[in-house]
Amino acid sequence: MNTEDTRELLEEIDRYIEGLFGTSDEVLEATLRDSRRGGLPEINVSPNQGRLMRLLVEIAGVGRILEIGTLGGYSAIHLARGLPEDGTMLSLEIDEHHADVARNNIERAGLSDTVRVRVGDAHELLATLIDNDEGPFDLVFIDADKESYPEYLDASLRLVRPGSLILGDNTLRDGAVLDPKEATARAMREFNRRIAKDPGLSGIVLPLIRERIDGLTIARVL
Ligand code: SAH
Ligand code: DHB
Ligand code: MG
Repeated sequence: MNTEDTRELLEEIDRYIEGLFGTSDEVLEATLRDSRRGGLPEINVSPNQGRLMRLLVEIAGVGRILEIGTLGGYSAIHLARGLPEDGTMLSLEIDEHHADVARNNIERAGLSDTVRVRVGDAHELLATLIDNDEGPFDLVFIDADKESYPEYLDASLRLVRPGSLILGDNTLRDGAVLDPKEATARAMREFNRRIAKDPGLSGIVLPLIRERIDGLTIARVL
């Protein structure tokens, strides 16, 4: 099959799963619509990836989530839906406008009491979380500036407990990690390598398809 046909097939498979499990709904669609209207980049996780991450929250019995990179709150809504009644989520976002759009989306989703968005540079916000002993979180989802993933991993490791999950988005980038030419791909490769080599973690990179192939790195703290 040529590349174009392969891409079409990947998209069709993704849509098939989406239709089968109903991984989107009106609230999620409205979230994407208002994010688009607000001029936010369309770089949210896919509906199917959102469902996968929600399942991970449910399977691991996660009660406290930390997200690095909120954008319009799309992944936050998926993740927070997997939490129990008394669960909480903190999402870090550098851009005030993104955070505003996200808060509106989170409110429409009925999750205002569950999800807090904190505005600032994640490097600083994470340092503050560590200093103030605000952990442990049961799941950390890393999805902000790609060059910082190795640093975000270090910070995350100080905010978790045995049994916690650490997830990293966009860790395959259409195969760019195989032979990295840019700083972002190099950082991803380093992030994946560290997770694979850390004797305190058990993990995998899960290839995910959409219109292209990307990956979700999943690690469990031992
Ligand atoms: N998790 C979202 C997508 C996040 S996109 C979803 O799937 O729906 C990445 C986000 O990280 C953007 O909103 C960007 O503004 C934010 N970001 C980039 N650098 C950051 C930093 N240093 N600290 C905090 N957020 C950052
Ligand atoms: C892209 C996708 C993402 O999920 C992300 O966090 C950043 C960028 C992209 O497709 O460019
Ligand atoms: Mg992402």
